[in-house]
Amino acid sequence: MDKLIVTIDGPAGSGKSTIAKLLAEKLDARFLDTGAMYRAVTFAAMRKNVDLHDEQAILSMIAATEFDFERTDGPMTVRIDGEDVNSDIRTSHVTSHVKYIANSPAVRSELVRMQREYAQKAQRIVTEGRDQGTVVFPDADYKFFLTADARERARRRLKDLEAAGETVDLDKLQQQIETRDAEDENRKVGALKCAYDAMKIDSTKLDIEGVVAAILDHIR
Ligand code: DC
Repeated sequence: MDKLIVTIDGPAGSGKSTIAKLLAEKLDARFLDTGAMYRAVTFAAMRKNVDLHDEQAILSMIAATEFDFERTDGPMTVRIDGEDVNSDIRTSHVTSHVKYIANSPAVRSELVRMQREYAQKAQRIVTEGRDQGTVVFPDADYKFFLTADARERARRRLKDLEAAGETVDLDKLQQQIETRDAEDENRKVGALKCAYDAMKIDSTKLDIEGVVAAILDHIR
């Protein structure tokens, strides 16, 4: 089968993960959730008491830790040194600290290297994040940029967090999402940005199936 790289970028809660996962199945490709990589590094650093502002210490920690993002059956399972940390990396606590890792140019370039290596191995990949179409895979076959208004994204996050057993307030969640949008958009390296050649899809009023259908229509 031919090589394929599909990138999906967009802000928090725009539905990228669910959509990328479904698309990967339909396109017989692997799915990569790059936000999970930034989250896993953040979680590992906090757990190992590594200073999140110390780039060199973070890089050494990454080198000394086994991160496994390779599993593709069902939701991407993230392991740190063999331990399944899939739910640990998605808590609000990790979310509020991930910016220190995402803002570090040196850490980003290491994660970008891992993402390209993953694509090289997989051959066919649907990858989602903030900088996949702009920085990591500028020559991707297809690029998409997913948006949705902040209130709707907050509602979606609320559902996820409640399902994971967290109690959160919708207004507060919307505020956090808007703060994270600003952080993601204003980052000096790897900022959230629609690639000039990406197709923009507003999912505010579309359900998951609607977005997947629009994407598949475009690809086919
Ligand atoms: O998609 P997510 O919410 O799991 O991502 C968590 C954070 O990771 C996000 O706020 C910014 C960072 N991130 C990034 O900087 N670059 C990516 N390609 C993916 C995520």
